[in-house]
Amino acid sequence: MPTKSLERWNRDGDYLKAQFEAAGYQAQLKYSDNDSNQQNNDIQAMIADGVSVLIIAAIDGEALTQTLADAKDAGIPVIAYDRLIMNTDAVSYYVSFDNYTVGVLQGEFVKKAMDLDNAAGPFNIEFTAGDPADNNAGYFFNGAFDTLKPYIDSGKLVVPSGKTTFEQVATPNWSTDTALENMQNTLASYYSDGTVLDIALCSNDSTALGVAQAITSDYAGSNKPVVTGQDGDIANLRNIVDEIQTMTVYKNVSDEAGVTLEVAKALLEGKSPDASLLDSLSADAAYDTSSYDNGTGIIPSYLLVPWTVTKDNLQDLVDTGLYKWDANNQYLESAT
Ligand code: BGC
Repeated sequence: MPTKSLERWNRDGDYLKAQFEAAGYQAQLKYSDNDSNQQNNDIQAMIADGVSVLIIAAIDGEALTQTLADAKDAGIPVIAYDRLIMNTDAVSYYVSFDNYTVGVLQGEFVKKAMDLDNAAGPFNIEFTAGDPADNNAGYFFNGAFDTLKPYIDSGKLVVPSGKTTFEQVATPNWSTDTALENMQNTLASYYSDGTVLDIALCSNDSTALGVAQAITSDYAGSNKPVVTGQDGDIANLRNIVDEIQTMTVYKNVSDEAGVTLEVAKALLEGKSPDASLLDSLSADAAYDTSSYDNGTGIIPSYLLVPWTVTKDNLQDLVDTGLYKWDANNQYLESAT
């Protein structure tokens, strides 16, 4: 896993380890501190240990080519977990969510929240995207931007900062602090004259945390801007209850771990899993053999289904069994 500093990877690691062990496997779990060199070393150590399969959520999708060539030489299959690993023919399968749809759900939420098809507008929006080293980040941004672009083109949505490309709004390491700082700068430069901020489109929860903090401390307007996110991290679910964040795109990473286990099992039994594996999965997923080319060819992908969470359907998270209400029935806590 990439890092312990972002909540979701702690959940991913716990679920993967628990589910593989429950299925009778021994599991080594390493976190590489968002440091690509360390991740290469961690994987090399696992190769040297003679592991049977590698499941990797890459820190930098472009930085594992040599190490994974060694895995291939050692006959160890590799599953790219959540993030596609680029420029290596050692990756057998990719297990993730439909990443483009994550962004579309954020864009659709904004469309509905602002009633863009009927309201006069114009509304002001700012974008915050993810880590350029993470292959997912562009999919999230494009999904949201493509959905909102017609309204930007028609003038119903305005971007006062003028920052409309992924490169201009990317956030290295998905860092909350960097997102906070960038939003503070944007607010100081483009909103200190009383310009109203209506929407802060953030690609995920770690960046939404920083952006919401900047809005709380540095935004003078009296409206509550719509703030989007992704993951359903506990701190963000709290902000949703407190109306500091408006929505998150939820991805059930326990299911993602479960699908990964089924793919790994099939590989270890010498099979080449395909669409027929879907029948044995307990989670909704699609088998995709056209979307994810890692530079060496298409990587067959199992893509799970993300969904939108707002203040109004938090109970649906509790119904997954992974969250519970706190003692005051106010905020959600982890139930696992
Ligand atoms: C994951 C997101 C996560 C982000 C930062 C992405 O690759 O798909 O769920 O928010 O990394 O950790």
